[in-house]
Amino acid sequence: MRFDILTILPELLEGPLNHSIIKKAKENKIVEINIHNIRDYSPYKHKQVDDYPYGGKGGMVLMIEPIYRAIEKLKTLCHYDEIIYTTPDGEKFTQKLANELSLKNNILILCGHYKGVDHRVREHLITREISIGDYVLTGGELAAAVIIDCVVRLLPGAINDETSALSDSFQDNLLAPPVYTRPAVFNGWKVPEILLSGSHKEIEKWKLEQSIERTKKLRPDLFNKNDLL
Ligand code: 6GU
Repeated sequence: MRFDILTILPELLEGPLNHSIIKKAKENKIVEINIHNIRDYSPYKHKQVDDYPYGGKGGMVLMIEPIYRAIEKLKTLCHYDEIIYTTPDGEKFTQKLANELSLKNNILILCGHYKGVDHRVREHLITREISIGDYVLTGGELAAAVIIDCVVRLLPGAINDETSALSDSFQDNLLAPPVYTRPAVFNGWKVPEILLSGSHKEIEKWKLEQSIERTKKLRPDLFNKNDLL
């Protein structure tokens, strides 16, 4: 799978996408992630990328031409299955949407910024608009990192334990059960006895019960969506 990201703040994305599972997935050629600075495509002097909005006050707006040029250039190198714009007024990002995106080959993400982009970008160049939740970030870079992180870990081979991504919280509308590791007793605080029993069947039963209990208590909204129960 390939991601291309268009941003005016490439530094913001380099950290989150260069560690742990995402780093290994890149090294193992499971995913390729290219970060492009929109400024490099600006035809204006001083490599300008934003300007005052027409018809009023407010923050700066990203101009269409640098974005158009960047997208046109990238399209000559690769066919995109989706061109995504990250924005708080987009479709809500969920595990279901992450699963769907993980089946695509090439995705371009345009990171939104403060007061937004010239609306003609959204009307003519974008195939999909995504928000990561009902709160406002200063820019779409962290949202793009969240989306890529979620999608990459779903790609076959990204996680060692093949069943691991499938047993995530949310994949079946159930929260994950609690996990423990050594020591079995710390400060007098004990690991649940059952986990030390060695009985695989009983342990699986306990985990499912825990998942159900935790979902009922912490996320009744999710629990009510669960048609398996
Ligand atoms: Cl995608 N962008 C911004 N700026 N804020 C957000 C968001 C995106 N998703 C939630 N809040």
